[in-house]
Amino acid sequence: MTLDGPHTFWRRPVPRLFQVLRTMPHYPDDLRESRRLFERARKVMPGGNTRTTVYIDPFPIYAARGEGCKIWDVDGNAYYDCIGNFTALIHGYGQPDVTAAVVDQMPQGTAFGAPTLSEIELAELLVERLPSVEQIRFANSGTEGVMMAIKAVRAYTGRPRIVKIEGAYHGSYDFAEVSLDSSPANWGDLPVSTAYAKGTPHGVLEDVLVVPFNDIEALKAVFATHGETIAGILIDPMPNRAGLIPARKHYLEAMIEIAHAAGALVTFDEVISFRLGYSGAQGLWGVMPDLTALGKIIGGGFPVGAVGGRAEIMSVFDPTGGKPALPHGGTFTANPVTMRAGLAAMRALTGESFSHLDRLGTLLLDGINASLRRHDLAGQCVGLGSLFKVHFTAHPVTDYRSVYPGPAERRKLDAFHKGLLNRGVLSASYGLFALSTPMTEQDARIILRAIDETLGEIASQS
Ligand SMILES: Cc1ncc(COP(=O)(O)O)c(C=O)c1O
Repeated sequence: MTLDGPHTFWRRPVPRLFQVLRTMPHYPDDLRESRRLFERARKVMPGGNTRTTVYIDPFPIYAARGEGCKIWDVDGNAYYDCIGNFTALIHGYGQPDVTAAVVDQMPQGTAFGAPTLSEIELAELLVERLPSVEQIRFANSGTEGVMMAIKAVRAYTGRPRIVKIEGAYHGSYDFAEVSLDSSPANWGDLPVSTAYAKGTPHGVLEDVLVVPFNDIEALKAVFATHGETIAGILIDPMPNRAGLIPARKHYLEAMIEIAHAAGALVTFDEVISFRLGYSGAQGLWGVMPDLTALGKIIGGGFPVGAVGGRAEIMSVFDPTGGKPALPHGGTFTANPVTMRAGLAAMRALTGESFSHLDRLGTLLLDGINASLRRHDLAGQCVGLGSLFKVHFTAHPVTDYRSVYPGPAERRKLDAFHKGLLNRGVLSASYGLFALSTPMTEQDARIILRAIDETLGEIASQS
């Protein structure tokens, strides 16, 4: 490790940009233009909102533009972007190869009722990078990629049920949303399946079995009772909403063994975790799933999703012999703008990019843990590589229930999020950070200093 230890950055002179960020106006009072846009939005969109995840109480900060690892709001304030459109923008804004590919494609046509060379090229790159993927199929969002994976395991096995991890987020397909926000009031003894959206059909809850994370015995128990009806297990190897805790390798290996013994399949949702390494989480862990769902970074900043896996399973989509077991279309699927942007972004994401992101991630994760200790705040920062998350809880975090925030933790998370906004750092409101390749070590130190100041402020108010 060539970086300074986590404590040494305090003694460095304050860089100029940080001095600039210190003069940030205060959220929400000073952000007049964002407030004005929100009031306008409320007239034509429910709650002024078209994407629940970006809402902030009392109103969201409206983005005007981005460049590298920073964004500017409509009031002219700059922020380090530590969320990158919810982890999708691994190269930040204006990556030159991505911009050139898109600018070249636009006048040639943005979408056709015919396939293009660009989808073959992106498919070839992904098949080459992901050891478990022999064939792939594109979609327009991670939600759709996951949905296709669920439908594919059902079509392949002829069984109705899937198993998922309590609290894990996999997009907005009904079956993937089950038990996303279970609470102590309804979570009961697993496998209890709870509805996320009001009106979820009861059949959906019956066909999704929920288990705790990293628990082999719970998996065995579910398969012992329901094995013959289970088509597959859906798992994100480092589930963000369930705590961003990495899966144990042994757990993933046992999962595949248990599933295969029952004639079921395992899908890794790598919509986010593909940003952990050159070959994604499966490359890092050295564990091969049957199917992989993708999205976010593979679109170079444009809407995208995909499902890939063993050719034998992917044949459920194959139309060459007549109607396939699982027909699938999509008006904008594999459009050449997304495909070319994705190809340029993925080509620019080299082994060196990951070493760089890992170095910055370690600096921040270690630095935040040191800062929490220094301020005597109950809390911990967990994660891997370019992804990390702050929990304001001192006990060991192991699964969704262990990270479920009580009212005091929720208040701290809110103060953390808004304290960072006021210091020029944009993160997710639930404590998640995602780094991007244009960030430098100096940027990381400035972000860390803003985090430390915010944690100090929270400690002084506790
Ligand atoms: C793990 C995971 N799967 C699936 C999705 C859904 O992707 P999208 O928002 O592109 O539909 C997300 C989105 O955040 C995700 O984090």
